[in-house]
Amino acid sequence: MLYEHTLISLGILLFWSNWITLALTQQTFFPSAVPLAVRTPTFNCWLDTRNGTNPIDTWPTFWNDQHILGWAGYIKVDGTTYRWLGSPVSGIHDNASVWLATEVTPTRTILTVQAGPMLLNVTFLSPIEPSDWARQSFPFSYVYLDGKATDGQQHSIQLYSDISGEWVTKDLETGIQWSSSQTSNTVFHQVKSTTPKSSFEDVAEDAVAYHAISSMQPGLVSLVGSGLALRAQFSAAGTSLALNSDLTGNIGNVKGTNGKFPVFAHALNLGTTDTLSTVAWAVGVVRDPVLTFSGVQRRAYYWSQHSTIGDAIDAFITDFQAARARAIALDQKVLQDAVAISPDYADLVSLGTRQAMAGVEITLSILPDGSFNMSDVKAFMKDVGNSRRVNPTETIYAALPAFMYLDANITGVLLEPLLEYQSSSSYGNSYAAPDLGTTFPSVPGNPDNNAIYGVENSGNMLILVLAHARSTGDGSLIVKYYNLLKRWADYLTSNVLDPEQQTTADDTGLTQTHGNVTNLALKGIIAIQAMAGISQIMGQTPDVQKYERFAKSLMQTWVNLTATSGQLRWTYGDSTFGLMYNLLADKLLKLNVVPTSIYTAESTTLSNNPAQAFGFALSSDSNSNTRSDWTLFSAAAAPDIETRNLLISGVHKHASSNLTNGTFPTLYNVLTGLGPGAGVSPNGFGSPAQGAMFSVLALNVANKTVVVPSPPASRSKTGVIAGGVVGGVALLLLLGIVVVIFLRWRRHRQVADGLAAPRPYMTTVFGGSSMAPTNPSSNSLAVPPSRPAGAGSPFISPKAALMSGVPGHVAPEPTLPPASSQLPSSSVPRGTEELRSEMERLRHEVEQLCATQGVPQEAPPVYH
Ligand SMILES: *[C@@H]1O[C@H](CO)[C@@H](O)[C@H](O)[C@H]1NC(C)=O
Ligand SMILES: *[C@@H]1O[C@H](CO)[C@@H](O)[C@H](O)[C@H]1NC(C)=O
Ligand SMILES: *[C@@H]1O[C@H](CO)[C@@H](O)[C@H](O)[C@H]1NC(C)=O
Ligand SMILES: *[C@@H]1O[C@H](CO)[C@@H](O)[C@H](O)[C@H]1NC(C)=O
Ligand SMILES: *[C@@H]1O[C@H](CO)[C@@H](O)[C@H](O)[C@H]1NC(C)=O
Ligand SMILES: *[C@@H]1O[C@H](CO)[C@@H](O)[C@H](O)[C@H]1NC(C)=O
Repeated sequence: MLYEHTLISLGILLFWSNWITLALTQQTFFPSAVPLAVRTPTFNCWLDTRNGTNPIDTWPTFWNDQHILGWAGYIKVDGTTYRWLGSPVSGIHDNASVWLATEVTPTRTILTVQAGPMLLNVTFLSPIEPSDWARQSFPFSYVYLDGKATDGQQHSIQLYSDISGEWVTKDLETGIQWSSSQTSNTVFHQVKSTTPKSSFEDVAEDAVAYHAISSMQPGLVSLVGSGLALRAQFSAAGTSLALNSDLTGNIGNVKGTNGKFPVFAHALNLGTTDTLSTVAWAVGVVRDPVLTFSGVQRRAYYWSQHSTIGDAIDAFITDFQAARARAIALDQKVLQDAVAISPDYADLVSLGTRQAMAGVEITLSILPDGSFNMSDVKAFMKDVGNSRRVNPTETIYAALPAFMYLDANITGVLLEPLLEYQSSSSYGNSYAAPDLGTTFPSVPGNPDNNAIYGVENSGNMLILVLAHARSTGDGSLIVKYYNLLKRWADYLTSNVLDPEQQTTADDTGLTQTHGNVTNLALKGIIAIQAMAGISQIMGQTPDVQKYERFAKSLMQTWVNLTATSGQLRWTYGDSTFGLMYNLLADKLLKLNVVPTSIYTAESTTLSNNPAQAFGFALSSDSNSNTRSDWTLFSAAAAPDIETRNLLISGVHKHASSNLTNGTFPTLYNVLTGLGPGAGVSPNGFGSPAQGAMFSVLALNVANKTVVVPSPPASRSKTGVIAGGVVGGVALLLLLGIVVVIFLRWRRHRQVADGLAAPRPYMTTVFGGSSMAPTNPSSNSLAVPPSRPAGAGSPFISPKAALMSGVPGHVAPEPTLPPASSQLPSSSVPRGTEELRSEMERLRHEVEQLCATQGVPQEAPPVYH
């Protein structure tokens, strides 16, 4: 072409080479794998884009990067066939198109390729449908082609795409059966195992895979045949599209006889043109029911809108143009917000969005008559990349920023089954459970009494519950489960500083459990303050005061134990340091329980230690391993933009290094970029925890006025109070409390500045109220030795805190009591012994109090 220097062709060439240059110079982000069709834990297809791999010579894989998902795409231009997806197959005369660039947006992955004279965009669109749970729960993705001739000429164009039975089993010997159907607008194939199994070590073996296309297409040919036969026929010379199946019947096995894999294909003949205007296919993987929770089968939400899968597919195909417009609009909004932070940050958000949303399946329960209970929406998250755990609290916590930004109600429907199970008689622990069990898709609940994760999980739950209420305005979980939440908060007040047993759920690939972590205690203390916020929503002023005091006094002790010489320790009593990622919860909920000086100290600690090739290790004792999710939490919590960008940059270097491995894994080594151990899954590959990429954006999510549905008065009042009152004094105490609450409520009303008088069941919150903690900036780091123990001290004695929490005790005005002389105000960090004796003292006091008042009360724990 370069020899034909006619003015016109040169002009066209320049035009198109500019276009190509544009597409090429745009790629600055080089992940080691990109999402293709990622909608659920079991419909999770990726393309390996590691260096040395031509993406157009590579079969797509399941998220584990191990299992091939057969998916081939071809374009025939003037009789020459080019591949735009898949690997070369011997005997098929195709040429890989030339890969030019890969672009990743929150909903799309776009491969730009040159197929002979045609420049193509191959776009893989996995919709994200905020607030539309029928669409969000439908496990289908689109792939579509747009293109133009770069020589300005007309060309004869045919297109082809197929999938194989590898989508429904990991074993190539597994028997499969298939069928093809036509609806009013759609043609689709379906394939499933002849021996469906509840096996989830790899792809789901109980799924049905679908390949669909609009029937309103020119020269459409849809059929099932062996991949060898169909692809060979398509790639044969000539511009016709004559395909014939070599298979009879509708049963075979995945790899077919003699390696002739049955495939499910749609091909079409576009005729002669210089423009390939959008042609779309759809791929889906359906499991129905999704799971069984507490013995009740649950189906995906979309089934409430469609009576058959054909209807649902038809709606999905018909909706394509609108779905694409919605996806592009969502991408533009997210990217505009994210680029304002930094281009690196926008890349991370783009790569993490689909896997975060694909972690969640939104379901409805089936009533005995087969209909749906529309008021029983629950969502479930399989621990993709790690295990078969369901609704792991630390993963929901990590993904919270994405839900807050994209669709905050999802947090609530993920929490609902955890709360429901743990308020049932099946669960007896005083702390929160780690998950709903470890055997997806059977979800019985987890009665496990593994107390060493009590602070981790109780902390996660309380923070999540308040975050959900404030980002949605929905107080229904709080009113329904208030006593359960209080139980966890009370557990935290007693255990949060326990230095020896409590363990974090941070998986850094270390085999030993890691105790004494300051960052874990920090989470617990923030969660106690979150409980004060929850109590405020309930209008339970004594509880607000009780938990605020606990949080503040524990915070002070924590500061003493953690901060030395302007730096923060990772474990009590040694010189380790690490990413204090739980600071984000304080910021996200605007609790202000952590002194500003602690944020600064964390920033100083990091700047005193150089970043490695791929960022900061989670802690100085984590064998150079880190977590991208917790790093982004830390970035969002950073008090200055330099530290924030430094942390983002480390994760970006890893996410953009195609010399590393994995499908955007959470866990990696900051020196090598590889996963610990063998570097293969499970290492957090494809984990929804990457919703943490939204951490910085979530800080700007507006708080809403929380509306607490008014329950029957008798239930709520006695419910809240009855827990603490037994015996003959019950009635008297009850009366006393009602009077006190009424008086306090009336006083509160009077002092309220005219508007938004706090009422028991409708509260405007998020800081700024009379219950807001004192200005944190007045607290100083590490408690200067000179600080007087007199009035004005930010310290609140734990005794006073406990007193105010005893039912029947008339809480004092929310002014700060003088600091207890029994607590040292020196900056010398106190050891665990001191902590232990302090807790012991508190315990005795509470026991005495209970004895004299005849009121049962949970006392602080015994330290051994
Ligand atoms: C890998 O990344 C480098 C830049 O670091 C880039 O030039 C190369 O094209 C990438 N390879 C693939 C397959 O994306
Ligand atoms: C396709 O590939 C074959 C062999 O790899 C090569 O001989 C042929 O020239 C290629 N055709 C085109 C149009 O690129
Ligand atoms: C292909 O994608 C690029 C980058 O998103 C876009 O600028 C271009 O217009 C697209 N081309 C076609 C033919 O759709
Ligand atoms: C529907 O679900 C709600 C919420 O879980 C429950 O209270 C109600 O009893 C259910 N209805 C039926 C008919 O089971
Ligand atoms: C926690 O610290 C205490 C006191 O320093 C020590 O005895 C204990 O072994 C530590 N526990 C863990 C799990 O590291
Ligand atoms: C949201 O929080 C801010 C302060 O953090 C407060 O000024 C505002 O009134 C709150 N809005 C609502 C609707 O609660």
